[in-house]
Amino acid sequence: PHAHHGGGAEPTPAEPTAGTGAPPPYTAFSERLPVPRVLRPVSSLGDTDVYELPMQHAKAEFFPGRPAPVLTFGGQFIGPTIRAKAGRRVKVRYVNRLDRAATVHLHGGHVPPGSDGFPMDLIEPGASRVFDYPNRQQGATLWYHDHTCAKEAEHVYRGLAGFYLIEGRDEAALRLPRGAYDVPIMIRDARFDENGGMIFEPSPLPTTLHVNGRQKPYFPVDARKYRFRVLNATLHRNIELYLGGLDMVQIASDGGLLPEPLPRKKILIVPGERVEIVVDFSAQAIGSKLVLTDVCDGADEPVMRFDVARRAFDPSRVPGRLRELPALPAATVERDVKLSFSPSGEEFAINDKTFDPNRVDTRIVEGTTEIWRVTNTDPAETPFGPVNHTFHMHLVPFRVLDRNGEPPLPGENGLKDTVLVRPGETVRVQATFSGYKGRYLYHCHLQEHSDIGMMAQMEIV
Ligand code: C2O
Ligand code: CU
Repeated sequence: PHAHHGGGAEPTPAEPTAGTGAPPPYTAFSERLPVPRVLRPVSSLGDTDVYELPMQHAKAEFFPGRPAPVLTFGGQFIGPTIRAKAGRRVKVRYVNRLDRAATVHLHGGHVPPGSDGFPMDLIEPGASRVFDYPNRQQGATLWYHDHTCAKEAEHVYRGLAGFYLIEGRDEAALRLPRGAYDVPIMIRDARFDENGGMIFEPSPLPTTLHVNGRQKPYFPVDARKYRFRVLNATLHRNIELYLGGLDMVQIASDGGLLPEPLPRKKILIVPGERVEIVVDFSAQAIGSKLVLTDVCDGADEPVMRFDVARRAFDPSRVPGRLRELPALPAATVERDVKLSFSPSGEEFAINDKTFDPNRVDTRIVEGTTEIWRVTNTDPAETPFGPVNHTFHMHLVPFRVLDRNGEPPLPGENGLKDTVLVRPGETVRVQATFSGYKGRYLYHCHLQEHSDIGMMAQMEIV
């Protein structure tokens, strides 16, 4: 199963590791991209599908023949995909079979506060909890992941993450690529020891990318259109995708379909963000191999390779209009949200305060529309390069109004829940806080930052 595949494979250069041996050698494009299995409901009653999903210890082979311990949903790195439909309720019983407490947050989900995975409200080992996901929201690519206070970065890094896809009500009529041609791609990163195990170091050291749990995999494709749902689930790496100059047609962002498709040659995706693209391989010769590369900030690291394997009939299309976005209601409240090192310089903070689960930082009247001016005041020059933050809000999607007064970046004109804020930037976002009352979080999605303070609480009243 790990045989050398095709031509053009190059050994991956080993990263130097501090205090441990170099990771085992690895041949790029020698393993096939796994597509995470779709979870089946244990029951379906009326308008509800019920799932059961254990959190459990397992082994993953980032290096063939060298199983290494990981934390998983359902025994696999990465977890199974839940496919939901807008308007149809999902309940998931999460069973904690780990040796530690954990919880689960549905990133991008419009869910009641008791099902949001509050970081102090943990599922103890041996216990289980049912979370309620009403799916009264637009179709979109969501993901579920651990949200344990101060442990989230490590838990997610070690594997506690999976996809949750909501199909919109009118989506089938658009005839976008479906079924086997609709493929989720979770880009993650890690540092590996000499046994191929994961080293967790909360610091911005260089990492190796892996996709759906494999390093630099290949993926045999038909010569036709595919829909790829790309998630950057790395701890702290911005990724800029480049497919050798081929168009990647962006059709959706975090909160679902864009108003219209946007052909792009390079796509920046920051931690926590999702981008959906359609790639058309029909003009490629059978046998050709296209490498998807990360070219962010001068990087040139292969992410995966598409091997065009055969001709295929293609009934799919990408319509010129994908959906109408709701009109922006007038905002009645404006707030400033400052992301920065804390005054101590050893933690990260929001408005100079580190996370306190007993403190409500922001009170919002249910149903109101607000504009938040989110500013990154951290320096552009540090020994590790610029300190970026990615601002994420629970419960509701937002719209990006502008960046330092300039128009948003390409692909940022749809519904978003996670947005890059570079040093010195002020990004204005607008959200309407409707549907539920209760406490929810907002935070930086560089989980190493939120774990040491860059997280705050809003209460919707
Ligand atoms: Cu994906 Cu509060 O996080
Ligand atoms: Cu941050």
